Amino acid sequence: MRADTSTDNLYPGLSSAYPELAAAAAGWRWHAPADSLRRRTVVVTGAGSGIGAATARTLAWFGANVVLLGRSRDKLEAVFDWIESHTSSQPVIVPCDLEQLDEAAVQALAEAIQSSYGSLHGLVHNASMLGPKTPLAQYPAEDWQRVFQTNVHAPFLLNRGLLPLLEAADQAVVLHISSTVGRQGRAYWGAYAASKFALEGLSQILADETESSGSIRVYSINPGGTRTPMRRQAYPAEDPESVPPPEQHMDLYLYLLSVHLGNSGNPLPATGSQLDARSWQPA
Ligand SMILES: NC(=O)c1ccc[n+]([C@@H]2O[C@H](COP(=O)([O-])OP(=O)(O)OC[C@H]3O[C@@H](n4cnc5c(N)ncnc54)[C@H](OP(=O)(O)O)[C@@H]3O)[C@@H](O)[C@H]2O)c1
Repeated sequence: MRADTSTDNLYPGLSSAYPELAAAAAGWRWHAPADSLRRRTVVVTGAGSGIGAATARTLAWFGANVVLLGRSRDKLEAVFDWIESHTSSQPVIVPCDLEQLDEAAVQALAEAIQSSYGSLHGLVHNASMLGPKTPLAQYPAEDWQRVFQTNVHAPFLLNRGLLPLLEAADQAVVLHISSTVGRQGRAYWGAYAASKFALEGLSQILADETESSGSIRVYSINPGGTRTPMRRQAYPAEDPESVPPPEQHMDLYLYLLSVHLGNSGNPLPATGSQLDARSWQPA
């Protein structure tokens, strides 16, 4: 698979290093300058699979040092190995089950980031648990708790514990990856939908609390249906080709991160905005 010539010119080497990203980049609405995230450090949760793996590889290709946080070491290692062989950025793996995350683990992570990188420019809350698709009347309380622990409590702990490092950076961006059912409830989506509503709230509260500083911008992003393992779990009968691959959304992610972190002067959505990856347009 090859990108069109204009993408080859814009991003030399991308079509052989990461053909899916090069193919998607040909249709992007905005093109980040290559290297626009150089010397920036970004934590991506759930970096081993789906949208998180695409985010980690993309940010690294654009120069960021990515902290790959996730549950399955083998999946994180595959992303790490790709980054090491195709970029000059410095990734690090943080194996972590967010269901078990506590204050001590966040403190240890903050200290590790502080000593390796000094500050933090981006935090992408991407990891998420789908849980059962079941009516509320039968929804198992134990699953409800596990989904909330992973999808809400862990992002809260990470935001709180990593905030001093985000404040230590000149500019920083926090992205909360949400869902359509986190903005309009839908039958049988149970704890997943309710947890995404809570994540939207967390995003808006953090945005409001950091707005006066001007240095931290906070957003929620709804990727919309995207070709990943979670999508297959939620819609087993769907043809995967009928929904876009994760790389198609990366122009929005790059816009929010590289415009703010690069001080490019492009207009950004107001902090606290709820964005849709599929319909977003650069201002
Ligand atoms: N795909 C879609 O159509 C769609 C639509 C709307 C919103 N989203 C959102 O997009 C984000 C990415 O989803 P995806 O579709 O890319 O799903 P995915 O491929 O299933 O990836 C989810 C990631 O979260 C990680 N994760 C789950 N529970 C974890 C835990 N307890 N501790 C650490 N990591 C954990 C998974 O790790 P393992 O690989 O180890 O399981 C995996 O890396 C999610 O927030 C999801 O809600 C997706």
